[in-house]
Amino acid sequence: MKTLYYKFMAVVVTWLLRLLPRNPPVVYKGLNSALILCEQVAILGFKRVLIVTDDFLGSSGILDGVKEKLTEGGVEYVVYDGVLPDPTFDKVQEGEAMYRKERCEAVIAVGGGSVLDAAKMVAMLHTNPGPLSKFDGIQKSKKPGTPLFAIPTTAGTGSEITLAAIITDPESHRKVPVVDSKMIPGYVALDAEIMKGMPPGITAATGMDALTHAVESYLSKASTEGTEIQAKAAVRLIFKYLVAAYHNGDDMEARDGMAVASFYAGAAFGKTSVGYVHGIAHQLGRVCGTPHGNANAMVLPEVLAAYGDCVHPRLADLARLVEVGEPGGSDRQLAGAFIQSIIDMRKEMDLPLQPKDLKAHDVPGIIEEALKEAGGLYPVPRYLSSDEVRHIVNGLLAA
Ligand SMILES: [Fe+2]
Repeated sequence: MKTLYYKFMAVVVTWLLRLLPRNPPVVYKGLNSALILCEQVAILGFKRVLIVTDDFLGSSGILDGVKEKLTEGGVEYVVYDGVLPDPTFDKVQEGEAMYRKERCEAVIAVGGGSVLDAAKMVAMLHTNPGPLSKFDGIQKSKKPGTPLFAIPTTAGTGSEITLAAIITDPESHRKVPVVDSKMIPGYVALDAEIMKGMPPGITAATGMDALTHAVESYLSKASTEGTEIQAKAAVRLIFKYLVAAYHNGDDMEARDGMAVASFYAGAAFGKTSVGYVHGIAHQLGRVCGTPHGNANAMVLPEVLAAYGDCVHPRLADLARLVEVGEPGGSDRQLAGAFIQSIIDMRKEMDLPLQPKDLKAHDVPGIIEEALKEAGGLYPVPRYLSSDEVRHIVNGLLAA
């Protein structure tokens, strides 16, 4: 009975994702494209903007070039640097209050996924006032947000192109998924220069998040020819550049490749949604505070293996794409080689294999919520049983 309900929901979600109207952003790419984006802020006629960022970036000097360029163009700015990881709605409200008080005309988000998510919500809240519950769900806002410019400083979440933001309710601590195509930023800069200070651990974790987006999108039942092209491009770039960017943060070719990979992966999963890797990873984040990219990396190969035969042809496609496994091997062999190459990548980048503080008594709740999230929301290639998910989560205890 539950599987029937999940199948019905998968069809609903697939069609919603396909039918939502979207305006893709104007994208500036390449070295110093963040500065080009700031020039465009002036050219577009904005006179006063709110920069949304976090405390670390606000005091790191990364913003200096952005501020200089805005000033050169005659654009005044104020900085809201209160965003924390897993942004809460009260911080969104703080940012919007500053936007209103300072009479800003646009938002510029400079940061990782949390900053981008918070900035998207600041822009939406300004034109759609109300509590967080008003935004909970799919396409709940009535009006477009204020103009939004995005400068991602990490390569992984793809938030700069997605129609989603995860905002935490400060009282219940529930992570509320806000899905609204009006949240997609209008202008994006994919600037490797601004990403070169990213530490190796964050480079690895965010890169594995991007890989998970691409692979889960490629396996999604909602995938289309268009999303498959984007997902494959992301996988190819990640296999080529992620480990290089991890070992040498100053490798601008690798950083540039990862910035583009994250964007393509975001574009793909924004139209197909994700799968059980995210379903489980979100619970590890909720229960253990595991950073999202790390949590995905902990279970990506294991979930792919658990899907079994039904994903072998698709994973074999990806294996051929990145040239792992024996040429001419069977789909099963190539799928195995692709999964093994992810395990090798995870090892090479020294990613943690188990969450801190995961206790055996947490496992039943994680399984229940993961099954509910993935089964009820994502067009997954196959429904996993609670025993299959238990096997994966118990593996994290024993690792
Ligand atoms: Fe993700």
